[in-house]
Amino acid sequence: MTSRPTDATPVEDVQPRFRPYTAKSVEPWEEFAHDRARCPVARNAELEAVQVSTYQGVKEVLAASQTWSSALGNIWPLKEPLPPEEQVLGWADPPRHTRQRKLLVKALSASRIQNMRPFSERFADDLIDELADRGSFEMYGDFAARMAAGHVCELLGVPEGERDEYARSAQRMEELVTETMDGRAEGGYGAELNEWLDYLSGMIRAKRAAGPGSDDLITQLSFAQVDGDYFEVGEIARVIQLVNVAGIGTTIGAIGNTACLLDRYPEQKARFLSDIEGLALSLASESLRFESPISGLWRTCAKPTRLGDLDVEPGEKAFAVISSGNHDPLVFDRPDEFIIERDWANLPTDLPFGQGIHFCVGMNLARLEIQVAAAKLYQRMPGLRVRPGFEPELVPGAVLRRFKTLEMVFDAPALPRRT
Ligand code: HEM
Repeated sequence: MTSRPTDATPVEDVQPRFRPYTAKSVEPWEEFAHDRARCPVARNAELEAVQVSTYQGVKEVLAASQTWSSALGNIWPLKEPLPPEEQVLGWADPPRHTRQRKLLVKALSASRIQNMRPFSERFADDLIDELADRGSFEMYGDFAARMAAGHVCELLGVPEGERDEYARSAQRMEELVTETMDGRAEGGYGAELNEWLDYLSGMIRAKRAAGPGSDDLITQLSFAQVDGDYFEVGEIARVIQLVNVAGIGTTIGAIGNTACLLDRYPEQKARFLSDIEGLALSLASESLRFESPISGLWRTCAKPTRLGDLDVEPGEKAFAVISSGNHDPLVFDRPDEFIIERDWANLPTDLPFGQGIHFCVGMNLARLEIQVAAAKLYQRMPGLRVRPGFEPELVPGAVLRRFKTLEMVFDAPALPRRT
């Protein structure tokens, strides 16, 4: 490893160039390179937060959960802690976070998710069958969102007849969260959320009434006990809501970003098309590194600390720029090039999923979905490409890196499914 370049200018005097609100860029790599090299830890006036940009720095902030609280939001820079009932998982600190997380880890373990592969492949094929004769589709609404929501439904055990409606509502709730994400949200997102929580609560009561026999996630949450007590229905509903928010928008982003990257790097696409099965996992890893759908996460200082050369006081915000960490040349060679065949056995693949106690419990599922989506789409639609002339527009804000819509075309009809 080489060390960071040094510069005569004191770190505090160098302003970060990352400006996600006023100048969000499809290619922010030079800005990130500047910030990592010249001001790896610095106050960013636009973010009103301490910005942390290196791979190591991002990991350290996310790992230091006692210093850096999540109870004032990880995707919103809130001024006050969320009301206690809204503090779930990624929006909670220990001990509340710890007992909720325990419930999810088993349900989303690597072996259980591997068992979902046949479902995943069948589901992707079903979605492609519906598009097969069209020659064009919108990546998020017509494919990626349905793929992501369908997997969440399967995991949760949403009754078959309710899945389409569930997927629409879950996606709507995810969009609402996204809209308020960087808008200095006051917390909560209104009447629609309450209606949705009522619906989820009804489903939980029905699962409780049906008994503990099923191994779907809602049944498991419904019958889990801590110190002899069941979880309250309201708390389970909020855990499920967070699983929706965490599991849908991110995966949509990853599937769409992968398609866009293959378009922007035709030689990599040609390589992928030459060995789709063999390269699908490696493609997913590189896509997540190059265009992490979660570009960065908020934290709030809980006790006085020193970060880089800065003294930080309780209440101050930090923004850990995951996308920048993933382009750190101290960790990845040629970091600003999209190279689907990297030596993943010797490279980290975890940063897109966070670090420490909040590390993504859905990572295995996400990686399965991205691989299956890419493999099925390009096997059956080898000419799949972004519609010529269409200029994708990034969603606003600091947290997400994905597009608002993504118009795709292919040479209809799609090839038939293999199984
Ligand atoms: C490409 C897709 C995904 C990405 C990039 C992603 C990324 C992340 C990141 C960065 C975190 C850490 C948040 C923090 O530290 O504040 C996280 C947490 C979480 N993710 Fe994911 N995620 C993805 C898919 C999923 C899926 C499919 C699920 C479940 C169905 C899921 C469920 C969760 C949950 C429940 C948490 C909170 C964990 C905790 O606080 O203990 N994620 N995710």
